[in-house]
Amino acid sequence: MMTKLMKQSLISMTAFLLSLSLVACGGSAASSAPASSASETASAAEESSAASSAPASSAPEAASAQGSSSSGSGGGDTLVMGTSADYAPFEFHTIIDGKDTIVGFDISLAQAIADDLGKELVIKDMAFDSILMELQLGTIDFAVAGIVPTEERKQSVDFSDPYYSTSQTVVILKEDADKYTGLDSFAGVSVGAQTNTVQAELVEPVLTGASPVLLQTIPNLIMELKSGKIEAVCLESTVAEGYVSTQDDLMIAMEVPYEGSVNAVAVQKGNTELLAAIDATIDKVLENGQMEQFIQEASALANQAAG
Ligand code: ARG
Repeated sequence: MMTKLMKQSLISMTAFLLSLSLVACGGSAASSAPASSASETASAAEESSAASSAPASSAPEAASAQGSSSSGSGGGDTLVMGTSADYAPFEFHTIIDGKDTIVGFDISLAQAIADDLGKELVIKDMAFDSILMELQLGTIDFAVAGIVPTEERKQSVDFSDPYYSTSQTVVILKEDADKYTGLDSFAGVSVGAQTNTVQAELVEPVLTGASPVLLQTIPNLIMELKSGKIEAVCLESTVAEGYVSTQDDLMIAMEVPYEGSVNAVAVQKGNTELLAAIDATIDKVLENGQMEQFIQEASALANQAAG
């Protein structure tokens, strides 16, 4: 356990160093965020039920998979993953060979899980705040979406071992650097966060007296920040690093203390068979360095997408 956690810190550290190097070489005044294409915002917002196939999958559009009974690892040839692809480098839309494709290190992990089970991965893109409900309803088999396994969520779904560890931050406009210097500088200030996330829960209690503004997608939050409708966004560090490295007017103001910033895969309560398979794959990809490779590939793609 100890070694696994140490490995996870190493992985996060690698991701962090990588993002630093991206900052260092990303000199061009890039205009768009890793995950801010209009199509993506739209697709995440409208909770598209259209499943799209994974990057590596040669399968045609997953029309058949939409109707699959999705009964966990036991049933059918497909494994249906729920995600919210507004979260580079975890999961985001990009154009590959002229085609809108969902990529990211969560997607690579999900693909590895499906491969190990000998199943075809089907991705369902939806609003983050409906993922756990869809899981409970059984319309998806598992969820990989940079999800923090909170005690509250553990009441309704089961979680894998952690596959990534991260931290929480506040992103602001660079021009406001002098205004926001501590967790207590946000009294009465509008701070954005994604609906139903741990970031949303952090705003009021931790950024003392801040007024939370909750929106469905991260690109929308960044847009509101840039247009001055909100003053700050509470964001997971890995996602925040992506934005500040490509958008010159943004910066990370500070870390927000939060215990247990790790990410895990969610399955339906009691689906022990699928959970064991997922844990085995996670253990393997953390051990053999594949997870680290997934993270590097995703970060490179996100940086590329940001131009
Ligand atoms: N880590 C946060 C949480 O678990 C936010 C995750 C948001 N994920 C996404 N794909 N937009 O609440």
